[in-house]
Amino acid sequence: MSEHDPASGRGSEPASGRPLWHGRFGEGPADELLAFTVSLPFDRRLAGDDLTGSRAHVQMLARVGLLTDDERTTVIKALDQVEAELTEDTFAFAPSDEDIHTAIERRVTEIAGPVGAKLHTGRSRNDQVALDLRLYLRREGRAVALRIHELQRVLLQRAGESTEIALPGYTHLQRAQPVLLSHHLLAHFWALSRDVDRWHDCLSRADVSPLGAGALAGSSLPLDPASVASALEFARPFENSLDAVSDRDFVAEALFIAALTQVHLSRLGEEIVLWSTDEFGFMQLSDAYATGSSMLPQKKNPDIAELARGKAGRLIGDLTGFLATLKSLPLAYNRDLQEDKEPLFDALDTCALSLSALAGLMATATFVDTAMTAGADSPFNAATDIAEHLVRQGTPFREAHAIVGTVVRQSVERGVPLDELISNDPRLGPDFLIFLEPGSAVRRRTTPGGAGPEPVALQFEKARERMDRQQTWLALEH
Ligand code: ARG
Repeated sequence: MSEHDPASGRGSEPASGRPLWHGRFGEGPADELLAFTVSLPFDRRLAGDDLTGSRAHVQMLARVGLLTDDERTTVIKALDQVEAELTEDTFAFAPSDEDIHTAIERRVTEIAGPVGAKLHTGRSRNDQVALDLRLYLRREGRAVALRIHELQRVLLQRAGESTEIALPGYTHLQRAQPVLLSHHLLAHFWALSRDVDRWHDCLSRADVSPLGAGALAGSSLPLDPASVASALEFARPFENSLDAVSDRDFVAEALFIAALTQVHLSRLGEEIVLWSTDEFGFMQLSDAYATGSSMLPQKKNPDIAELARGKAGRLIGDLTGFLATLKSLPLAYNRDLQEDKEPLFDALDTCALSLSALAGLMATATFVDTAMTAGADSPFNAATDIAEHLVRQGTPFREAHAIVGTVVRQSVERGVPLDELISNDPRLGPDFLIFLEPGSAVRRRTTPGGAGPEPVALQFEKARERMDRQQTWLALEH
């Protein structure tokens, strides 16, 4: 497409075309109006979807007898030429092209002559733009879901390689109990897997064709919305024309899914930032997925992880900003709705880029098992198991908790190693030292869904099943 700034258009009656609504108006639009209302700079990316919708509309017009076969052929050919011009970047935008819909219709009319002027029969930009955006979302939403799936695959792969590595699990960012690295990575996997499920739900709800709603109330012409819906492979046509042109739930839902996915990425990103510090030392980033400092020669920075974290703020803004736009809008179409596109495009683009960058980072990073193991084997991490052993011997849990807590406090305050205090404590004794054996604590996490080798092996099966199920959906056309 040729670069053209529609905002630079002249005011009244531009030479290359008049506004679509010129009949009712004595003079052309002011420069300021065009500059303020124009959406072409960002809705140009809907061109392909607009052509798809227009072709389906023209076919329907011919089916119901509103266009002759010849007229249909002429208009379809003009649409094909427009597509070629857009692809080859020879499409000349005119200053009066307020949005991609007007640009395409203007050009079709230039190419096809008076027959081209029949393209918009029974259609309004209100149902047209709603259709275009649904076509866009069904493709791009799935594409984002696919990238989520790719990151899940990387996490699953890395988890599969990490079944022998334990690290300290944290609550309050304080060491709590050891967990397998596989278990930790799979925790991120499951969060992302719910995001893919959300895309599936959202796209099934959005699977509605709004074409035929007209401006707001349908038409006096014999339109056939159901046939357009099936030609475009939508699950169903709209039920209510007012709702069809004002419903942007699908945009809000998509923005929420993207924002939540980005929040999940920000939590993974935060851990990458922490783990790659000298203080944690759990993870080393590959050179290709880290950045240097312009001043500090020794630095290797986790910028991808930081940006994945930082961009969550932006996606939350896209969501809340758009909800604020929708709030209190009366039925049906209002120009406010044009504000749906920029946040949607921004959120999906940003989320997709973050997912791919993090997938590459996670696929190539090195986990430092020595540092993780040293942390996992810290004797205090076994405190709960010792208390639970007392419970097995009949001590009420609260009492057991207090006994072990006291021993830990003494160890911290007096600087005496925990094993020494445990051996010498009459309520505990040398039998309890097995709980401090390196690598043993994580193996005791045996309950379903727990962090030890046995439940994690089962978890892998469930994770692979989930991947296959989602893969089946992702591989479908729509
Ligand atoms: N550019 C507009 C949008 O994105 C297209 C619909 C305009 N409709 C109208 N009645 N002015 O919403």
